[in-house]
Amino acid sequence: MSKVLISDELSPAAVQIFRDRGIEVDEKIGLKPKELREIIGRYDGLAVRSATKVTAEVIAVAENLKVVGRAGIGVDNIDVKAATGRGICVMNTPFGNSITTAEHAIAMMMALARHIPQADRTTHAGKWEKSRFVGIELYAKTLGIIGCGNIGAIVADRAQGLKMKVIAFDPFLSPERAIDLGVEKVELDELLSRADLISLHTPLTEQTRGIINAANLKKCRPGIRLINCARGGLVVEEDLKAALDSGHVAGAALDVFQTEPATDNILFNHPNVVTTPHLGAATMEAQLNVAIQVAEQMSEFLLHGAVTNA
Ligand code: MLT
Repeated sequence: MSKVLISDELSPAAVQIFRDRGIEVDEKIGLKPKELREIIGRYDGLAVRSATKVTAEVIAVAENLKVVGRAGIGVDNIDVKAATGRGICVMNTPFGNSITTAEHAIAMMMALARHIPQADRTTHAGKWEKSRFVGIELYAKTLGIIGCGNIGAIVADRAQGLKMKVIAFDPFLSPERAIDLGVEKVELDELLSRADLISLHTPLTEQTRGIINAANLKKCRPGIRLINCARGGLVVEEDLKAALDSGHVAGAALDVFQTEPATDNILFNHPNVVTTPHLGAATMEAQLNVAIQVAEQMSEFLLHGAVTNA
């Protein structure tokens, strides 16, 4: 009988799916790295979200491990090279939280445009600062989407519902798909020079790391607003801070940070920065979706060798 370890908080639906298929499951949340290394050898499958770090050291002692399932999109917390080197399949759930994350990006864009978090704080404090929080309309503004895959495409759709003009930079976006989505496919420099707001939806790779840096921020229109619900490493935080301080960037809404958990960051408490603690995928619906998907995919792999989203 195959045995799976769930080492991060997953919806109980995942446990049920494994058990219904005759797979034994242990749930051990919050293991220290040493504790994980001590027990991982007993398992055929490991299901994680983002808290568990599946390092090369863990992989090295995972004698029976055949599959690591990430309930979510990014596999940054898994040493994929080490896993692949030992013939361990790494799978994610690329679709389960796309709508939720896209909705968070739209919420962040709205919050940024209308200073909602700042106005909320001062209203609770008994101030009535109507003239301080004059925002901008999104209607007819140009939204530049960097990375127009699953999530970027949903953001584009929702932004068009707000009557925004959407332009997208994504080397993998075909001209036909761009037409289907109603977005204008452009090169990065053109996006930077034309957008009123930019939203990032690309994975963190060697090509995209630090894509929002001093040089690229200079190419943006004065008053640009930035939304990042993708990965913190896409933005050089020092460069963004300098551009915010100079006023060239009017505001930034950030759900992700270079170092997470982010308990301290140079952008914290900047008056024009809106933050959330990596809540992009944090809805009841998305967490249920990714838990079900990861459990089904891992079960299929363990029982029938079927590979999905690896
Ligand atoms: C993902 O990669 O699925 C999202 O960033 C959400 C998360 O890390 O939980």
